[in-house]
Amino acid sequence: MATVVLVGTQWGDEGKGKITDFLAEQADIVVRYQGGNNAGHTVCVDDEEFRLHLIPSGILYPDKLCVIGNGVVINPEVLEKELVSLRERGVPMARLAISERAHLIMPYHIYLDELEEEKKGARKIGTTRRGIGPAYQDKAARVGLRVVDLLNKEIFRQKLENNLADKNRLFEKVYGAEKLAGDKLFEEYAYYADLLRPYVCDTSLLVDEAISKGKNILFEGAQGTLLDIDHGTYPYVTSSNPTAAAAALGVGIGPTRIDKVVGVAKAYTTRVGEGPFPTELHDELGVQMRKSGNEFGTTTGRPRRCGWFDAVIARFAARINGLDYLAVTKLDVLSGLPELKICRGYRYRGELLTEFPADLSVFGECEPVYDILPGWDEDISRARSFEDLPKNARAYLQRITELTGVPVALVGVGTKRSQTLVQVDLF
Ligand code: IMP
Repeated sequence: MATVVLVGTQWGDEGKGKITDFLAEQADIVVRYQGGNNAGHTVCVDDEEFRLHLIPSGILYPDKLCVIGNGVVINPEVLEKELVSLRERGVPMARLAISERAHLIMPYHIYLDELEEEKKGARKIGTTRRGIGPAYQDKAARVGLRVVDLLNKEIFRQKLENNLADKNRLFEKVYGAEKLAGDKLFEEYAYYADLLRPYVCDTSLLVDEAISKGKNILFEGAQGTLLDIDHGTYPYVTSSNPTAAAAALGVGIGPTRIDKVVGVAKAYTTRVGEGPFPTELHDELGVQMRKSGNEFGTTTGRPRRCGWFDAVIARFAARINGLDYLAVTKLDVLSGLPELKICRGYRYRGELLTEFPADLSVFGECEPVYDILPGWDEDISRARSFEDLPKNARAYLQRITELTGVPVALVGVGTKRSQTLVQVDLF
């Protein structure tokens, strides 16, 4: 039995959905602990592609329980669409549990996200405009609406009226924008309440009891370490903590209940949204990586910025998350390149930096210092074990381990479940 936290080690989009889906086979319960529908996982089962934003990828197995923890912000409209679409494709839904303590994303959060981004102009964060930041703002300001409120019509109506009045004053007076009408909102959310009610429970208790019974639990982080509100490239971050310690808080279990932490790292680096990215490739190679890696956002469709693997941030992620293992994804995308670069430090005004700096103006000026490794020509998408990989591909993985201090447990060489090579069993 084991409890495993899976986190992104870069700026999100590391392929966590695929690794979650792969590991979920051995898990009894798959739990999401933060973020909302800013995330997007693409999971390929046989030849079918599923795109999920809120529901954990484990839902695609018939016998797994999927949990949306209290740390997640839930847009009920998106959850409803996801439930309907999965049901239409024959995925049974009884195995979903939603925390009564999770906060709701309301239409005024989405509107505010847009208004804030517009107001910032050139300083914009490049958010997914899904209302994530404003929903977490309300949570911290102690005016958020929670799932448990949604289930109590009177309380919900009262809180919604108060919030809407405050938000409309903000829209009108600060942003000079239109007010939001509230009349249909209440009926709409009453419908969501009825829809979600059967799934709502005390998920902290549920997960804690399952751990005590020796069940295998997989905690699935969304986004990545560099998007963490405390440890990432602030302010170009999301409004939650995608890092491993948040799994305990976002589910409601003690940190001592977590056995292993696995970091998912793409074999190169990508980023969507604004902010510095030292190993970014602005040339033809960057375009080629985007094309061969299909690097377009699952949530917004935005093209992802692409660049070489940055071992400085991966080592940082190893420290912040206490990584036991790495899962390296999309190694196949690098096939055919004559040489590969791995950033092992930054040059900043003549000085060599080996740690990720907090000051973004410093990070923005950092020039990568690279190790250059030979590439491989072989098609590795048919490899089924580490031993099937060409020597240079294994040397590339070995260099990542040397630079980060973390052994590689899994390697992805394609989008399918079968295209996952296992060096260490995680459950
Ligand atoms: P927000 O989470 O929508 O507020 O966006 C804040 C930043 O996080 C932006 O740079 C987004 O592009 C980025 N972001 C949020 N979710 C994801 C994700 O799932 N993958 C990659 N980037 C993300």
